[in-house]
Amino acid sequence: MPEVAFPRQTSRLFLRPLGPEDREAIHRMYADWSVAKWLSRLQWPFTPESADTFIADAQSDLARGAAFFLALIQRATCAFVGTVSLRLPALDAEPWTDDRRLGILGYAIAREQQGNGFASEAAATVVELAFTDLDLQRLRATVLQDNIASRRVLERLHFRLWRPDVREVPRYGGPARLGNTFILDRADWRSGESS
Ligand SMILES: CC(C)(COP(=O)(O)OP(=O)(O)OC[C@H]1O[C@@H](n2cnc3c(N)ncnc32)[C@H](O)[C@@H]1OP(=O)(O)O)[C@@H](O)C(=O)NCCC(=O)NCCS
Repeated sequence: MPEVAFPRQTSRLFLRPLGPEDREAIHRMYADWSVAKWLSRLQWPFTPESADTFIADAQSDLARGAAFFLALIQRATCAFVGTVSLRLPALDAEPWTDDRRLGILGYAIAREQQGNGFASEAAATVVELAFTDLDLQRLRATVLQDNIASRRVLERLHFRLWRPDVREVPRYGGPARLGNTFILDRADWRSGESS
């Protein structure tokens, strides 16, 4: 796995690996049901201890090169805005694929910071990191069908619908929900960049 330098910078944000200093902000964001309800992998209820585990897992995944879980910090105010993640499922502890050039994109923005274009801005930078620094070939993201904001983030980045009607069983229990999996190939990203 090539070395990736942090922080990354966008016009309004710094992107840097999560650390213990993010505990309170991580807890506040993911304990908010209006955010958590869209995230099938999240532990629930999300306690301060869940935040500690979340950050520790992010740090060990980063050390193994299995995932980049990044805090988004507003440059002007130093406020925590949210997270963006890139996982390499072939490097998971229990991998479901051996495709080492596949990445999985994820993001969440704290409720009070939503609607400002931060998810789109951060995700664009991580997509670039995936296709340049990490030399990945394809990215995927699965979005629940009524998550219009998340779908828009992906469409703006030129992701296309790959598999509709994917069943997602939330980690916190309850019935399976329907999502759509979107994909972005490196070639489509390149042509999208120049359009
Ligand atoms: C999805 C999420 C990350 C979007 O973050 P954001 O910073 O508000 O997104 P942006 O401001 O970049 O907006 C992206 C697009 O969604 C649209 N949008 C934002 N909120 C919306 C809403 N509530 N309903 C419909 N569209 C919405 C924006 O208008 C924008 O569309 P445009 O490109 O046509 O202008 C944020 O809503 C969130 O954290 N949701 C909970 C967690 C989540 O769903 N994560 C993704 C799981 S797949």
